Amino acid sequence: MQPVPPALSAEQIREANTRYHDVAAGHYDSKWGIDFGELGQSQVSAKLRKALGREPARFQSSLEIGAGTGYFTLNLLRAGLIDSASASDISAGMLETLGANAARLGLSVSTHEADAEELPFADSSFDLVFGHAVLHHIPDLPRAFAEFVRVLRPGGTLVFAGEPSRYGDRLAGLPKAFGRGLAPLWRVAIGAASAPASVDGAAQGELEAVVDVHAFAPAELQRLAREAGLGEVRVSGEELLANWFGWTNRTLETTADPEQVPWAWRVYAHRGYLALQEVDRRLLESRLPAALFYNLLLAARKPGAPAHAT
Ligand SMILES: C[S@@+](CC[C@H](N)C(=O)[O-])C[C@H]1O[C@@H](n2cnc3c(N)ncnc32)[C@H](O)[C@@H]1O
Repeated sequence: MQPVPPALSAEQIREANTRYHDVAAGHYDSKWGIDFGELGQSQVSAKLRKALGREPARFQSSLEIGAGTGYFTLNLLRAGLIDSASASDISAGMLETLGANAARLGLSVSTHEADAEELPFADSSFDLVFGHAVLHHIPDLPRAFAEFVRVLRPGGTLVFAGEPSRYGDRLAGLPKAFGRGLAPLWRVAIGAASAPASVDGAAQGELEAVVDVHAFAPAELQRLAREAGLGEVRVSGEELLANWFGWTNRTLETTADPEQVPWAWRVYAHRGYLALQEVDRRLLESRLPAALFYNLLLAARKPGAPAHAT
């Protein structure tokens, strides 16, 4: 794991994460194209299937760590893969958006403002503990994993997806640099002005550099799970071409006035990303080492009697 930058304490990192995500909460779903329809449900079901290496059973009770606006929990509920859902996050702003999304979709979720390293739940409370794109924000991972294991029932399942791999993260530097170089020409081609400078944007940019504290080698995730006492540990990788395409486009888009980016471009970027995700899934993910992909997935099981899966 990349070490926590020495200039910042764990407390400062948690505080930066809270502030950054509180501000991001209002526009998070549109920024990341988060979907709660069939597409979102099929994406999260596919990630769960990939992480576990089999069709997921239905879980009676789940806890999401760093649930954000509800991408995973709400889609898993809609897909019928969990019965009763709890969602935790360090950011009250994110949980507020999650609550509004749940209400709009007619779903019931209990929300808890909590640090992953100090969960406000009794031992052995959940059949499934999971998260998406959150481990890389947590300063003390052994402490957080000890909490995940504590609140899991014996036989329960742990799944994390969307964690940046160290090589994948480095490789993603290439499309980002390519996007930055191409940006002036691209803005002329689509007829958009440069992004207006904003004080909020600059502050968020500074925080962004602080909130991501880890990128992982697959063996490091394996070790964290094993050292926490988990068994049946499995790490896999996803998204390579899709990611290069996605980072190029995202870098281009951040340089332009969002009001002036044509709808047709957004449709092209979205559809292209989905098509390349499919190419990655069908051709590359089963053939290349997990370390090369941008995202890592981790699945493990707490030893003991089987969870209450139906
Ligand atoms: C990149 S977002 C992912 C959100 C959501 N899981 C998704 O996939 O859309 C990371 C989330 O982790 C939360 N987070 C960051 N540090 C945390 C911590 N120490 N404990 C709990 N949640 C944390 C943030 O507030 C944010 O909502």
